[in-house]
Amino acid sequence: MILTRFQKVYSIVFLFLLFFITSSVISNSHAADVGNCLLCHKYPGISRIDEEGKMRLFYVNESIFNNSVHAKVKCEGCHTDIKEIPHKTAVKVDCLVECHIVEPSTEKKFSHKDVDTFLNKSVHGMVDKEGNEKKYAADYPGCKDCHDNPLYRPLSFFKSVRPGISEASLGRCRVCHKKDEFIYRFYNHVTTRLHKSRNPLNIAEVCARCHDDVSLVERHELSTKAVFSYGETFHGKAARFLSEKIPDCLDCHVNKGESVHQMLSKNDPSSSIHENNKGKVCATIDCHPSASAKLAKYAVHSEFSLKQSPAQYFFTFFFIVLTGGTLLPLMGIIFLDLVRRFFPHATIGRRK
Ligand code: HEC
Ligand code: HEC
Ligand code: HEC
Ligand code: HEC
Ligand code: HEC
Ligand code: HEC
Repeated sequence: MILTRFQKVYSIVFLFLLFFITSSVISNSHAADVGNCLLCHKYPGISRIDEEGKMRLFYVNESIFNNSVHAKVKCEGCHTDIKEIPHKTAVKVDCLVECHIVEPSTEKKFSHKDVDTFLNKSVHGMVDKEGNEKKYAADYPGCKDCHDNPLYRPLSFFKSVRPGISEASLGRCRVCHKKDEFIYRFYNHVTTRLHKSRNPLNIAEVCARCHDDVSLVERHELSTKAVFSYGETFHGKAARFLSEKIPDCLDCHVNKGESVHQMLSKNDPSSSIHENNKGKVCATIDCHPSASAKLAKYAVHSEFSLKQSPAQYFFTFFFIVLTGGTLLPLMGIIFLDLVRRFFPHATIGRRK
């Protein structure tokens, strides 16, 4: 049943495509699209119902792609299996393939293999130090689990004339460099790395899909739903109000100067949040410069749970009772007072 419907939809898509191909002039100016993939994929309607009955969209927004970090990568650089057109169903992209781009300082072909090395050394690596696969290996994140949102934030995002471009500083490059295309490209390349591309809330969202998953937390014997408990503290609440000044997950869980992919378990002595190192995380110049190591005793992942943090639990419980116990009687008195003001002669029952 599903297959026949799929075939129907497929043939409609195909007819549409034929129409577009015959009617559109092959005029793709963008350098990355050597294989002319956007010839078909630039049409917003390009989609089909797959074998499981799910709708899939195959549209690639040209302007988002051309402004993304991968703009210079050819489509085939990542979709390496697509060699002829019309093409068959694509295999999943491997983020670690070498592409045609050359890294200028070594002049070697570029790939993200180093990131994988960092990731494997981290608590998120699928194999342990001896090289054996860890238990529940499927729970560990691969590149695409964390990198699925095309975020792009310009350096001076509230003042920018164009995304990523501050006209004032561009003028400085123009003093010496003559071609705007060159200037824009490298200006963007550098400035987008001078700050994080995700704000604290976006980062927390990346982690939440696993770290707020109750069954995953239990399977791995973690003590808290980390994003939820972050959200319970001042840090997380400020993140929700889009503050950029408060620490996000990476500020605490990554040693300064190391790849963000090298997060370690709290039991690892070289981890930034290991018992002996925690104090240093709080006392950085950006956060609490004059704090003593004791500040790190403050539970940054505290849940309203008797089991996890009894002190906080009773403290919060006390304040709920105190607030409720004060406000409710007070509101009762105000209410009775209002009734008496509006109905001065009202009585309950019959007056003798
Ligand atoms: C002749 C039009 C056409 C051209 C040109 C084209 N595609 Fe496609 N592509 C399609 C259609 C139609 C589908 C969806 C149908 C399907 O899955 O069989 C699709 C699907 C895809 C998919 C998803 C496949 C899946 O099932 O996961 C990828 C990835 C893809 N194309 C990449 C490319 C790349 C890369 C190029 C350039 C080298 C390219 N396409 C050129 C028509 C085209
Ligand atoms: C940096 C690598 C990269 C580049 C460059 C790239 N893609 Fe993709 N593309 C991916 C990934 C990753 C996915 C997600 C599916 C997967 O994991 O294979 C994907 C998925 C797709 C899909 C299927 C969407 C879906 O829902 O399954 C299409 C169609 C597609 N790409 C077309 C293109 C076209 C056309 C270009 C060139 C303009 C292009 N891609 C360039 C990495 C890339
Ligand atoms: C646990 C989640 C996670 C996993 C898994 C992960 N990354 Fe990342 N990655 C991040 C975060 C978070 C950042 C920093 C983003 C920011 O600054 O906004 C980042 C940054 C990067 C950057 C630097 C981007 C820039 O322009 O500064 C690259 C490149 C990268 N990751 C590639 C990869 C590759 C390749 C893999 C797979 C081997 C991978 N990542 C796996 C979370 C992850
Ligand atoms: C005072 C003049 C001057 C200013 C201002 C200047 N540059 Fe340059 N830039 C140069 C010179 C000269 C070179 C080549 C020197 C070298 O190779 O060491 C260069 C090299 C570069 C390169 C390396 C090119 C390559 O292929 O190796 C990049 C990228 C670059 N500049 C970008 C910028 C950007 C972006 C700005 C503005 C933020 C800027 N420059 C401002 C003079 C300048
Ligand atoms: C695809 C799922 C997944 C995603 C996404 C993910 N993690 Fe994890 N993370 C895990 C698993 C599984 C473990 C448990 C490792 C273990 O059992 O030792 C873990 C462990 C950790 C630990 C170590 C806990 C300890 O033992 O002290 C930290 C810290 C951590 N993750 C931070 C993050 C941050 C920050 C992000 C978001 C940038 C993130 N994770 C995204 C799956 C994920
Ligand atoms: C202010 C610093 C700070 C921030 C921000 C922070 N953490 Fe933590 N995290 C810690 C410390 C310190 C620990 C060690 C346990 C403790 O002392 O509560 C920890 C523990 C953890 C653990 C292990 C839990 C366990 O005990 O089993 C995970 C997982 C984790 N954090 C993930 C995250 C994620 C995801 C975020 C972002 C939403 C985040 N952390 C934000 C400091 C921080």
